[in-house]
Amino acid sequence: MNERAEAADRTQLEDRLIELIKLKGPITVADYMADALGHPHDGYYMSSAPIGAEGDFTTAPEISQVFGELIGLWLVEAWRGMGSPKSFNLIELGPGRGVMMEDMLRAARLRPEFTRAAHLWLVETSGRMRVEQQKRLRASEIKPEWADAFSDIPPGPSLIIANEFFDCLPIHQYQRVKNGWRERLVGLSEDETKLDFTLGRTPPPASLGLPDVADCEEGDIFEISFAGRDFAAELCAALAEQGGHALIIDYGHMRSGLGDTFQAVRRHQYWPPLAAPGRADITAHVDFEALSRIAIDNGAVAHGPVSQGRFLERLGLNIRVEMLCKGKSPAKIDEIRTGAYRIAAPDKMGEIFKVLCLSSPSLPAPAGFEEL
Ligand SMILES: C[S@@+](CC[C@H](N)C(=O)[O-])C[C@H]1O[C@@H](n2cnc3c(N)ncnc32)[C@H](O)[C@@H]1O
Repeated sequence: MNERAEAADRTQLEDRLIELIKLKGPITVADYMADALGHPHDGYYMSSAPIGAEGDFTTAPEISQVFGELIGLWLVEAWRGMGSPKSFNLIELGPGRGVMMEDMLRAARLRPEFTRAAHLWLVETSGRMRVEQQKRLRASEIKPEWADAFSDIPPGPSLIIANEFFDCLPIHQYQRVKNGWRERLVGLSEDETKLDFTLGRTPPPASLGLPDVADCEEGDIFEISFAGRDFAAELCAALAEQGGHALIIDYGHMRSGLGDTFQAVRRHQYWPPLAAPGRADITAHVDFEALSRIAIDNGAVAHGPVSQGRFLERLGLNIRVEMLCKGKSPAKIDEIRTGAYRIAAPDKMGEIFKVLCLSSPSLPAPAGFEEL
């Protein structure tokens, strides 16, 4: 970024954070991420239109309708596996522009009893995104209700979907130093005009279970999302008590491990994560092993994770694509096949994205996870 672009991009949030850090000292990466994404006025999701070709990034349901449709069919099967309850909560966490819910509901229409039994809840903190969801789902047969938090939804058997939701929950970062670990913090550049990384002065508590110092090198980073773990614990406790499944789809790693995955994207390009907070999407990879452990600790079970490509293939991606192509123009066929390739191919979204299902232990393994 050149200096002129930098000055033009400076945000009010950045100025406020700089003042705060001057006054009180460095803040955690988690606090920075929470403010940059969720600040009530200047947070990224509150003030931007982030998703799609015109925005900063795109997601699988925005690329191909097949994604939401296959998951809609998955939901119907999972509901049948729960004994087809006459009333249940259908919940989406962080529904973006509502595209996936629209596609899921269209596919689920083949089972009208499912649609009649569902109470649709959208967990969304951004007023701006809620407006988009409302517009898109205006014609749907189930009227959505919105919740700020999962805990606001009345208890009951539930089917929960979260696509690219856990990756925006704040993470803490820890850096291996000469003699141990220090928390990586957001402080100021030497001239105090910019945000910059720094390190905490005291070692983090041993109870965090950071990797053995002998197994890492100086400079290595280990990440923990307490927000993600708390959210998963809340979901699992509810599923264990009330029954149901939570399907979590996100990019991340199967096993907990070292690595700096704190990243920002703006206009479909990587962006320095501490520059212009509130104007870029900030995410971190999801630690699927940590989420699976949370399930066990909270009376639920975890199925998977399985790669997104393999999961979609198991749900019948190829058959669905060929069905959709029937009778279409060559240009449309190309579009459908390219979309399917982008969401499922190993060198696109198929391998880096994983699918984990947190479930009530009394239920059979849902579709896509049977042989794991
Ligand atoms: C990356 S988008 C995912 C959009 C959508 N699931 C998709 O696949 O297109 C993240 C969504 O989560 C919402 N969000 C972010 N943090 C949230 C939080 N803590 N609670 C509820 N919603 C949140 C955002 O406003 C946005 O709708």
